[in-house]
Amino acid sequence: MSSSAQQALTAYVNGDFIPLEDATIHIEDRGFQFADGIYEVIACFGGNFLDLQAHLDRLQRSCEGVRIPLPCSLDKMATLVQETYDRNPFEDAMVYIQVTRGAAPRSHLPQGKLTPTLIITSRVLPKPSNEKIATGIKAITLKDIRWKHCEIKSIALLASVLGKQEAALKQADEAFWLDEEGHMLEGCATNILAIIDGVLVTHPLDHQVLGGITRDMAIRVAKKHGLSVEERPWRLDESGLTEAMMSSTTNAVMPIYCIDEKIIGTGKPGATTMQIRNWMLEAMDALRRV
Ligand code: PDD
Repeated sequence: MSSSAQQALTAYVNGDFIPLEDATIHIEDRGFQFADGIYEVIACFGGNFLDLQAHLDRLQRSCEGVRIPLPCSLDKMATLVQETYDRNPFEDAMVYIQVTRGAAPRSHLPQGKLTPTLIITSRVLPKPSNEKIATGIKAITLKDIRWKHCEIKSIALLASVLGKQEAALKQADEAFWLDEEGHMLEGCATNILAIIDGVLVTHPLDHQVLGGITRDMAIRVAKKHGLSVEERPWRLDESGLTEAMMSSTTNAVMPIYCIDEKIIGTGKPGATTMQIRNWMLEAMDALRRV
């Protein structure tokens, strides 16, 4: 791996490593025609992946959830992920894996035995700007219009694309989905957690939220340092809510200072949020030193 970002990028596509600019898939790939596929995004710090096994296990669960056979063993997948990282020039990278049911003449019902499409790319790991870390992010809420299997990391992300656009129109960074009772579920591409009466609270894992690997990490470090954690439905208007944060592979946790034009807590990044963020960044830094 070179440190030059000028180096041509390499993608893995169905058995071959090829220049990213030449990487193509069939126009009748079911991922393209039906969003019939699943994906993962994994962070790598200086050559060491954060929670790789947890991401691969979730990839397997997603495949099972949509009845797509795993294109290879998880061990082989780990090797391909490492090799894709190694063939690209980024120290801190975000490796993207996508598995679709494969290419076939268009028919809703998959016909016969298809060979899944597997692509893997590596890009520089995007990090929140110092300004966003200092101020926190602004968000909106939207009624959840997504399907009822959000625990599957499906590539069918149109609702999230629309949600992000709604947020951008309001100069906000993320949109969070609300259930019928006004409970905070998760964001278009993040989980959301809050500090309520000093307790770290987040929606329990069910069909309405993705089991974020970063959400797990936030819970893990919080518990390790003696914070109480509750996984329960919660609402923004709960008295005792002093902080909110969102979590994802590319964000660790990020403070949220405003939701629907309402200031959260003091309007500044919460102390507990920043403490959790720093604990997580320490663990990420430690990976660079392995
Ligand atoms: N998004 N919820 C949703 C709907 C997501 O799309 C994501 C991640 C998360 C956080 O999951 P994790 O902590 O495992 O990254 C929660 C990825 C990063 C994306 O779509 O690019």
